[in-house]
Amino acid sequence: MADRLLDGQRVLLGVTGGIAAYKAADLCSKLVQAGAQVDVVMTEAAARFVAPLTFAALSGRPARIDMWSAPGGDPIPHVRMAASTDLVIVAPLSANTLAKLALGLADNLLTATLLATPIAALSKPGFDGGVPWILAPAMESHMWANPLTQAHMVALVARGAAQVGPGRGRLASGAMGAGRMAEPAEILAAARLALARRGPLAGRRVLVTAGGTQEPLDPVRYLTNASSGKMGLALAEAARDLGAAVAVVHAPLAVPMPYGVESVPVRTAQQMCDAVLARAGTTDVLIGAAAVADFRPAEAAGQKIKKTPGQEELLVRLARNPDILGEVAAQRAQTGWPRAVVGFAAETQDLLANAAAKLVAKRLDLIVANDVTEPGSGFGADDNRVTLLFADGRQEALPIMPKAEVADRVLAAVLPLLQPD
Ligand code: PMT
Repeated sequence: MADRLLDGQRVLLGVTGGIAAYKAADLCSKLVQAGAQVDVVMTEAAARFVAPLTFAALSGRPARIDMWSAPGGDPIPHVRMAASTDLVIVAPLSANTLAKLALGLADNLLTATLLATPIAALSKPGFDGGVPWILAPAMESHMWANPLTQAHMVALVARGAAQVGPGRGRLASGAMGAGRMAEPAEILAAARLALARRGPLAGRRVLVTAGGTQEPLDPVRYLTNASSGKMGLALAEAARDLGAAVAVVHAPLAVPMPYGVESVPVRTAQQMCDAVLARAGTTDVLIGAAAVADFRPAEAAGQKIKKTPGQEELLVRLARNPDILGEVAAQRAQTGWPRAVVGFAAETQDLLANAAAKLVAKRLDLIVANDVTEPGSGFGADDNRVTLLFADGRQEALPIMPKAEVADRVLAAVLPLLQPD
């Protein structure tokens, strides 16, 4: 299925000599499936490991090796390819080609093409005329550890290239160590992350809260709720794909953290509150999707609570937790940060009235009203049915849809709330 960031992108996939070249075929296939147009340029050493025909078949375009026999007798294929590339990936990147790239050598079609392809400054609008480079080194562990190799990698990263891997594990030599090429899925994720930096949230920081807080009763028991974190992480992914630098302050989650998103693990509402307030002053958009416990056991027992013979009940006194979004509102009134604050309202009755009251009480720009009684929606589900309530009184009721789509709709509603800096 076409990917919203990779679809239609012209990718130059450089493949250099190493046993991991076989994994580049999988990467090529994944890029094509994502909708990218892939031009593979191989070194002669790479072609000893995997036939160019493999890449030609997967990409539907000729895989090139030779500088001097370009199709149609093109005398400057490297310049032409460099000018028509949206994204560079070199996977696997050998120690030899890494050194050449760092030094600016241009002794084959791949190195000549890359020397003619400036590395994008991802933080600058329009990438400052450059192209994102994703480098996935793979080599024997001693070659990787060599200070010369390390210096070459550092030089390219300093110029803006994104390094993915290498991982540790069993190498072709049979030894264990660092040098394994990152998995194609991770390289693809890094490519998406780089391309996203052209999006409307580029240069913005988004903070999301996710998951259900845990309020300890004793060392092994706690009060919590059924939040999985799916909604919060979907929001984090949507913001990341629009180019934001995203962090998630989260209670324990049932789903993995998305690639490229900073994880800030906490457990209790108080810890979540502290972590959010510490970041709120540098956050453009705060989205509170966590299911935060309003109360906690007033005293958490130091040891596991024991039942005694004949005991029929245990009374637990609860103490009020801080209202995180309320605290943020107070801080925002002083500082103006975050620029936009979005809350959720998980309701079992009077959905819109209760959500509207929370919108006002927590001084939000937008609240996402969530009827959590509907089967297949809300806590733990993959889908959600929500209504967006804006501070200016507008309402937008959405049909039930995957949480990823809800997240897109929420982010689309957030964009107009941000003033240009
Ligand atoms: O995690 P999932 O399984 O995907 O489920 C998603 C969800 C149902 C948890 C999510 O869509 C949702 O509705 N999250 C808000 C849950 C909630 O706590 O709602 P609330 O109405 O109690 O709180 C209102 C808002 O104030 C929320 O943004 C909440 O994060 C925030 N809050 C609540 C209590 C508190 N002490 N401090 C807060 O900041």
